[in-house]
Amino acid sequence: MKGEVTGSTLKEADLFLEGEVLVNMAKKYGTPLYVYDGNLIIRRFRELHNFIKWPKLRILYAMKANYNIAILKLLKDHGAYIDTVSPAEVHLVLKLGYLPGHILYTANNITDEEMHEVKKTGVLMNIGSLSRLEKYGKAYPETEICLRFNPDVTAGIHEYVRTGGDLTKFGILMQDLPAVKKITDKYHLKVIGLHEHTGSGIAETEKVYQSMKNLLGIAKREDFPDLRFIDFGGGFKVPYSPDEKRINYDQFGKKIAEIFSEFCQEYGNELEMYFEPGKYLVAEAGSLVVQVNTLKDNKGRLIAGTDSGFPHLIRPVVYGAYHEIQNLSNPFKPGTVIKKYDICGNICETGDCFATQRDLPEIKEGDFLAVKNSGAYCYSMGGIYNLRAMPNEVLILNGRDYLVTKRLANEELAESIINGSRKF
Ligand code: LLP
Repeated sequence: MKGEVTGSTLKEADLFLEGEVLVNMAKKYGTPLYVYDGNLIIRRFRELHNFIKWPKLRILYAMKANYNIAILKLLKDHGAYIDTVSPAEVHLVLKLGYLPGHILYTANNITDEEMHEVKKTGVLMNIGSLSRLEKYGKAYPETEICLRFNPDVTAGIHEYVRTGGDLTKFGILMQDLPAVKKITDKYHLKVIGLHEHTGSGIAETEKVYQSMKNLLGIAKREDFPDLRFIDFGGGFKVPYSPDEKRINYDQFGKKIAEIFSEFCQEYGNELEMYFEPGKYLVAEAGSLVVQVNTLKDNKGRLIAGTDSGFPHLIRPVVYGAYHEIQNLSNPFKPGTVIKKYDICGNICETGDCFATQRDLPEIKEGDFLAVKNSGAYCYSMGGIYNLRAMPNEVLILNGRDYLVTKRLANEELAESIINGSRKF
């Protein structure tokens, strides 16, 4: 991995919930079960403020990563703002008490109805296409907006999550600045923010600096005299596998503050700096705990079948993502017998595996396994394919556990399908 890195220390490892806690939760609430560590989320949130020393730093939690309401409330109580991408996300956080001024709505191929619905809430719109800008200007002249530009830098952990570069659907190309100006002038729109998002899980810190510089390069006072903030999106990477290094966020933060400070001096105003992390705040704080119910030996290939599956955690299937798996019932210690397993689910598809050919301490039927780093884009990307309900979600905060989302019983799930369907 390029960029500035440090090894993760024992202290870092100690931050995470103990396997014993996860087993206790599994026994108390049943499996499959999502368990989140609220203290770690708060620690990550605070850390960013220590790394990026800018008096007007705002951290907008990208709630698409995990819309669990306990997490949303916790972050609100600690001063987080919110990055939203759908009207329902906006309604949810407003209902939880977030102020409209602390929410940004990033519009991505939205309909006119969605635009009006969000506009009514008083939440600022972040517009990423000339087409939407024209429609917005016509409907709401002389109002404030944020503009999303494509930073023209390609980075991110998988091609599906690289949002920069002109092959993606995101943001207005910087070369279209004259066309932007024409529309904003025509409708007297007040551009108070500029935005870019380069990708998710960015390993190369230089690419983040480059995106920042590209966006700041067009943030000229003569074109945008009313700027209050610049938003550099999310994408802060966290390690997923045990041998991956953690980025040196201390150095990273210093460099970011330096770049921004230089810009603000030139612009002549100390602007707010926004970042929109999702993974950084919540990925490491979550574990999906599953139970092994069926072991098979297919001509030497060991398959551990569990009571969950890809609709509950789809990242390995969609992005080929690596999630560490721990056998909570037989934790690794020197002398432990290690075997290779495919860790699979209960869904009727061959690809329904959390991991293949993974070395793990010997597994027995009944063992609990933890799929680690499952706090971001796991529950939130989940579904009920094969009509298996989404798991319970538990938040642990200051040593106490809270059942936040209750799993539907099988009959309730069946009932919900009937209730939600048109009556025939
Ligand atoms: N801001 C914008 C405009 C975004 O599109 C995203 C993520 C974020 C912020 C937060 O990015 P983060 O800090 O979480 O990397 N499902 C994929 C990730 C999709 C990211 C989509 N946009 C995954 O599981 O890897």
